Amino acid sequence: NSVLFSMIQPTGRLHLGNYLGAINNWKDLQQSQSEGCTYIYGIADLHAITAPSKAEELRRNRHEVVASILAAGLDENKCILYQQSSVPEHTELSWVLTCLTSIGQLNRMTQWKSKSLQAASSSIFDDKVLGNTKAGLLCYPVLQAADILLYKSTHVPVGDDQTQHLELCRSIASTFNHTYQAGFFPLPKTLLTPSKKILSLRDPSKKMSKSDPDPSACIYVTDDPKAIMQKVRRAVTDSVQGPITFDPENRPGVSNMVNIIASLRNSTVEETASYLSFVKDHKQLKDVLSEFLIEEFKPKRHLFDKLLTDKSYIEQVCAKGTMKAREIASRNIASVKSVVGLD
Ligand code: TYM
Repeated sequence: NSVLFSMIQPTGRLHLGNYLGAINNWKDLQQSQSEGCTYIYGIADLHAITAPSKAEELRRNRHEVVASILAAGLDENKCILYQQSSVPEHTELSWVLTCLTSIGQLNRMTQWKSKSLQAASSSIFDDKVLGNTKAGLLCYPVLQAADILLYKSTHVPVGDDQTQHLELCRSIASTFNHTYQAGFFPLPKTLLTPSKKILSLRDPSKKMSKSDPDPSACIYVTDDPKAIMQKVRRAVTDSVQGPITFDPENRPGVSNMVNIIASLRNSTVEETASYLSFVKDHKQLKDVLSEFLIEEFKPKRHLFDKLLTDKSYIEQVCAKGTMKAREIASRNIASVKSVVGLD
C-alpha cells in the first residue's frame, strides 16, 4: 500500500511557489485517489521554529496556513491534515535517526549552507560563525526524514528545492535498514511537482520566496487583483522581440511567466508557448498572466477570509487529522523501538 506524504512550513501566507509547487499538486494527487493510497499532509511547525518568531505570530501563521490550504481546495475528508507538533512521535523518531546521521552528510546540504550563512548575516564561513549557528538548522533535514519515515511513506511530492533533503532521507532510511532490520523503511520516491520551480518575479535567478526583501518578487494566494497587477507589471522580462518562447536559460523571466501560466492552465510549457502566439509584446504577456492569476485566486481569497474567522472549524479539521496521524505514528514508532531495542 502506498503512502503519499508531504509538508509545508507555516511561514505565513502561501505564495505562488507554495501554491503551484505544492498545494495545487497535493490537491491534484488527492483527486486522482489511487486505490489503497493514504494521503498525509502536515504543517511543519517544528521546522518553522528553526527561524524563531513571536509565539503569537507562529500561532497565527499555523492557523493561516491551514486556512490557505483548505481555501486552495484540499479536501480534508480525503486526506490526513495535521500540525506536526501535535504528533510527538516525529521528534522521537528524529532522535533515533540523528544517531545514525553523520555531520558530514548534514554539512553537504545546500540549504543548510545558505541558511546558516544568512542566520549569521556573514559571508565568512568560519568557525566563529558556525559556532553561533543553531544546531536545529543543521539537524533540520533529519527531522524532515523522520516526518517522512514515521508513516513509512512511499511517495513524497515536493518542489525542486527539496530533492537533496529527500536523497538524504533515503540514505538515512538505508542506514537504519542496514543497522537494524533489512527492508524496515521503504525508500521514499521523490515526486517532483510539474512546475518544479517558480522563480522570483524580480530576479529570476532565484526561487520565489517569502523571505525576498523585494515585496514585488512574490505573489500571495491572498493578494487582491490590484496587488497582483502591480507586482506582475514590475516583473523582470528581457529585450527579446517577437514571439513568446520557453527558453529558461536565455529568457528566464519570460519563461517563468510561461511556466506559471502553463501550471494555471494545467498544460505543458510547450503547448502554452504556442497558445501564447497571439501575444504581441511583454506588456500583453503580463496582462495575460495577471488575468490568469486573478481568476485563479478570486474564489480562494473569499474562502480564505471566511475560514480565517471560523477558528473552531480549522481546529476541528486539525484535531481529526492528528487523531488519524497518531494512529499510524504510534504503531510505527512502537516497531522502531522494538527493532532498536528500546521497547
Ligand atoms: P517549504 O515550506 O519551504 O515549501 C513547501 C513546498 O513548496 C515547494 N516550494 C516551491 N516550489 C516551487 N517553486 C517555489 N518557488 C517554491 N517554494 C517552495 C517546496 O519544494 C515544498 O514542496 N522542508 C520543507 C518542509 C518539510 C517537508 C517535510 C516536505 C518538512 N518536512 C517532509 C516534504 C516532506 C520546506 O521547508 O518546505
